[in-house]
Amino acid sequence: MSIAVITIDGPTASGKGTVASLVARTLGYHYLDSGALYRLTAYKALKHGVDLADEPALEKLARELEPIFREGKIELDGEDVTRAIRAEEVGVAASKVAALTAVRSALLQVQKSARKAPGLVADGRDMGSVIFPDATLKVFLTASAEARAQRRFNQLKEKGIVANIGTLAQDLRERDRRDTERAVSPLAPAPEAKILDSSDMTIEETVAQVLAWYREATEKRSH
Ligand code: DC
Repeated sequence: MSIAVITIDGPTASGKGTVASLVARTLGYHYLDSGALYRLTAYKALKHGVDLADEPALEKLARELEPIFREGKIELDGEDVTRAIRAEEVGVAASKVAALTAVRSALLQVQKSARKAPGLVADGRDMGSVIFPDATLKVFLTASAEARAQRRFNQLKEKGIVANIGTLAQDLRERDRRDTERAVSPLAPAPEAKILDSSDMTIEETVAQVLAWYREATEKRSH
């Protein structure tokens, strides 16, 4: 029997990362943060002054990427980049490099190889539609732009950063547009994905819903 996979795709700031890692922890499964791979590629490109439109150079960079994921931290070339890759500037650059076909194929294998026993929870944009089409459960997690802007505002406030909600919402819409309209692996729910709108849900409620769907899906498979 193939190794179980739960995919959680959705737009930026929908809470996928938090939900996916909590689901993984509850089940004792591995966790793949696929967005981090695009962020790492973008981070390295920015650091080395690689043009974000130079597809061959970015492909090479993505192919040779050797990040170490350990205890919630991410190391790249001996540097702890856990926080650095979350910067807004890196997020914007990531959505640009993610639109390049060659970069996406260069990152294919590393994503597929994250599927290890006893199971995997993977979050991103195309986990259910492209990378793990045979996933046990596919979830598409959304929330209104306003709810997502509010969440990001709160996160930044916790870090002591003052932001403008209107600007944040505008920025989220812009990034959604780029992720949704790109030609290759655009952000879209897989046909059989369960849509979960978390605008009015807490993290705990969202995690509980995913776990309930997963239980249903595994029971169905075992019958
Ligand atoms: O989930 P995130 O914000 O960390 O992702 C950063 C960027 O990477 C996002 O703008 C879209 C892209 N991405 C993608 O194209 N495919 C994925 N599976 C994950 C992320």
